[in-house]
Amino acid sequence: MRIVGGRPLEGTVRISGAKNASLPDLCATLLTDQTVRLSNVPEVRDIRTLARLLSDLGACVRFEVGGIIEARAADITSVEAPYELVKTMRASVLVLGPLLARCGKARVSLPGGCAIGARPINLHLQALEKMGARIRVESGFVEAQCERLRGAEIYFDTVTVTGTENVMMAAALADGETVVRNAACEPEIGDLAELLNAMGARIQGAGGSTLRIEGVTSLRGAEHKVVPDRIETGTFIAACAIAGGDIEIRDCHPSHLRAVIEKIRETGVRIEEGPDNLRVRSPRAMKASSVSTLPYPGFPTDMQAQYMALMTQATGTSTLTETIFENRYMHVAELQRMGASVRVEGRTAIVTGAAPLSGAQVMATDLRASASLVLAGLAATGTTIVNRVYHLDRGYFRIDEKLRGLGADIERIDEKGGPVPAREDGA
Ligand code: EPU
Repeated sequence: MRIVGGRPLEGTVRISGAKNASLPDLCATLLTDQTVRLSNVPEVRDIRTLARLLSDLGACVRFEVGGIIEARAADITSVEAPYELVKTMRASVLVLGPLLARCGKARVSLPGGCAIGARPINLHLQALEKMGARIRVESGFVEAQCERLRGAEIYFDTVTVTGTENVMMAAALADGETVVRNAACEPEIGDLAELLNAMGARIQGAGGSTLRIEGVTSLRGAEHKVVPDRIETGTFIAACAIAGGDIEIRDCHPSHLRAVIEKIRETGVRIEEGPDNLRVRSPRAMKASSVSTLPYPGFPTDMQAQYMALMTQATGTSTLTETIFENRYMHVAELQRMGASVRVEGRTAIVTGAAPLSGAQVMATDLRASASLVLAGLAATGTTIVNRVYHLDRGYFRIDEKLRGLGADIERIDEKGGPVPAREDGA
């Protein structure tokens, strides 16, 4: 991605459906033999990868234009999620709960570490064991079996988003009531509960830290619109703040971004809220403001890298503390190469601004780190080349086109520097 910095953003951008809601929603389609129709699904690479996995399991998955997916798992012909897929996308572990609940068995590759931390799935496995699954880990695979899962009291030691989702899907078809305490409260959990309830599940308390799930014997087909992507929304707020300008962000849920909006307001950025839209106006100079990542409704770890890019351009010193993942500062070295003043001490990054950024060749290491480099490129003088943008395409739907629509000078180039006409988002 080639970015020439220094252009303020103006105009309107529309937010896509949430990747991290669409992924569990798609997995939930395995819980019924009827058709589930999802709309507002972002056509990003992770969605294509998961659709491929569902097809391998025997589901029929059909994409329609405009972010619609119809999935029907009339017969499940395989219960195995292979290493090749799970290693490219950890969210593949979300098939574990549905496969166990529907088929009584599952064989899912252990995901292993990733660029942002170790990311174990021990809490998913412990919870499913409490529900009666027999689980062993062999040759890098989780092998799980059960008769019918039974309701259980689950307490998560750590808040886990996909862990909560796996248990919700398993418990929807279990025998009896499951109570999940210290459940994740992220809007994506609410979105999954809404879909499952439309399919006939009985889930109460989504959005709070205690979930009650009364198991049913079967689920049916449903239609569901995926919630807007709060991290994409936050990324565009940050883009306007760092590049300068005045933009409107449409089709979003400002109420899902309380912590992000308040934090970015503290830096001097003006943000006006409508029911499903935001107007963002950047100030002449931003003030530094410290932040700590936390589970929802706290400041999301998925916005930490983008917020760091912003802080490199704010006046003063800020500290960013990453409490969710132990290794989520891969963007720091690349931001430093562009001139940012950032020092990492354990889980805290100390940013001193505003240090002028200059365009450079940088390397994307994971999805949100890549977004922070694009933001830095918008503020830098000269040309920034962000390599390995496939990370961006895993989770942002046409981010380059959307930024270009706001007036940014950004284009995809091939390895020789020539323009890339075709979209690379896997759609
Ligand atoms: N954890 C455990 N054991 C477990 C599960 C989690 O120790 O069994 C720990 C993790 O190591 C981490 C913390 O608990 O320290 C929270 O991890 P969580 O399970 O909540 O993360 P996740 O479910 O794997 C989802 C998102 C991530 C997002 C995190 C935190 C999806 C598909 N992924 O991951 O999104 O960062 O929640 O909000 O929903 C992204 O989109 O870029 C992304 C990485």
